[in-house]
Amino acid sequence: MQTVKIKNLIKKFDEITAINDLSLDIEKGKITGLIGADGAGKTTLIRLIIGLLTPNSGEIETLGLKPFSQKHELTLKIGYMPQKFGLYEDLTVIENLRLYADLKNQPYDFDKMLEFTSLAPFQDRLAGALSGGMKQKLGLACALLGNPEFLVLDEPSVGVDPISRKDLMKMVKDMISPKTTVLWSTAYLDEAHSFDTAVVLDKGKVIYNGIPHELAPTPQEFEEKVIDLMGGYKKEESLLAKNYIPLEIFPECTVVADNLEKRYGNFYAVKNNSFCIKKGEIFGLLGPNGAGKSTSFKMMCGLTKPTGGTAKIMGIDILKDPEKARSNLGYMAQKFSLYGSLTLRQNLEFFAAAYGIKFSQRKKRVDDIIEVFNFQDIQNMKAEDLPLGFKQRLSMACALIHNPPILFLDEPTSGVDVVTRREFWNHITSLAKKGVTILVTTHFMDEAEYCDRISLFYHGETIAVGTPAQLKQEAQADNMEDTFITLIKRSEE
Ligand SMILES: Nc1ncnc2c1ncn2[C@@H]1O[C@H](COP(=O)(O)OP(=O)(O)OP(=O)(O)O)[C@@H](O)[C@H]1O
Ligand SMILES: [Mg+2]
Repeated sequence: MQTVKIKNLIKKFDEITAINDLSLDIEKGKITGLIGADGAGKTTLIRLIIGLLTPNSGEIETLGLKPFSQKHELTLKIGYMPQKFGLYEDLTVIENLRLYADLKNQPYDFDKMLEFTSLAPFQDRLAGALSGGMKQKLGLACALLGNPEFLVLDEPSVGVDPISRKDLMKMVKDMISPKTTVLWSTAYLDEAHSFDTAVVLDKGKVIYNGIPHELAPTPQEFEEKVIDLMGGYKKEESLLAKNYIPLEIFPECTVVADNLEKRYGNFYAVKNNSFCIKKGEIFGLLGPNGAGKSTSFKMMCGLTKPTGGTAKIMGIDILKDPEKARSNLGYMAQKFSLYGSLTLRQNLEFFAAAYGIKFSQRKKRVDDIIEVFNFQDIQNMKAEDLPLGFKQRLSMACALIHNPPILFLDEPTSGVDVVTRREFWNHITSLAKKGVTILVTTHFMDEAEYCDRISLFYHGETIAVGTPAQLKQEAQADNMEDTFITLIKRSEE
């Protein structure tokens, strides 16, 4: 039995062919993983399957219905979580759940949802005040309401911490019946490896469709195989680092957090956070969703005022001279913060001007960065129309446009494909070798290994600091994922 039948599907946007003569069946009662490079067509395919887009030609049938003309009927049978889930930011957590339950005519039975999302203590908090990962989990809980026949999840685990990601998988598996079909797009290949079927897309075509365990027995091997299918990754010299002009004078600590604290009412988002990062160091801030990582970033670049303590950037106090301190850093926010209606190129031009690059040098600098990130063909696309992975790339390019000696990267690789993640880290490690100081956060535990030092953060406080090897030793574990889980659980005891 097939839940979805697709034949010779074509979908074009202007001159871009997003789905190119694609044929695919999705089997009922199975979990099918959808993977592929950024811009390969995953989100477009999902939208076609559930009737949010009409194809240019070809046939598509979902649960025996024509998705576009019978959309209403179809919607009742589907649980859909889009990449950017439409939470009501000015309603609380529990009010969002009630609203979605009402829309689906479901009883108010949220205990299980609140437990898995760890949102029970925060049920009266406004959705707009949740951390990125907490929002993601609430979105998933809303999509799961009502035991849908067909669950369609577009990158549900973006920004979700390693512990919750395991819970999320378990929750989906526990909640579905043997008849439920799940289509789950993901950039986490360990996740895809655990599914019944994996479909790899490339340039709008299916280039692999099969059982992940047959392609490779271990998740690591599976990742390498998928990278090969996607055209491979060859480590090259980072042009970013090559063009970087190092500064000569540096203080002992380029980035200092001095007892930083952020309190909302009587809730501490960050408490007693202190550290010193040296020139050229890659310092990773790791921790579960809501730990206070983004709040720390925002305080350190002067976007949020601390309720206690301060931060120093290249020796300059961020509270006393925010502009001068900020001119030394590039900040890539967790949430997409580009100008959606401007083109890719215009965004770069805007940030070049905002960061004070002289007019005479701007064009060259923008051209250079377009080359480094391979943006030539898409530079005139509107930022809001870019696939998520390209938005991330553009955000990173904007943060780097003025060659800052310090980089703050808040989840730079969330929503980015596996090959691009490696490219990002090649840039990051090469820049660090040239003396750029980097503060970074990630939920990919394999990336944590690239950090020189890690601060493990939980409930607003540092619970461990050290090199990846030291932390592994402390946890008696041989990989970062187990280290993370062990140290977090231990701190709860
Ligand atoms: N305006 C606010 N009012 C109340 N609480 C807030 C506000 N802003 C943030 N918080 C809370 O502060 C805590 C820390 O959030 P933060 O965004 O720093 O977490 P994070 O570690 O970056 O998480 P993630 O991994 O999900 O991105 C969360 O519990 C969040 O809900
Ligand atoms: Mg965050």
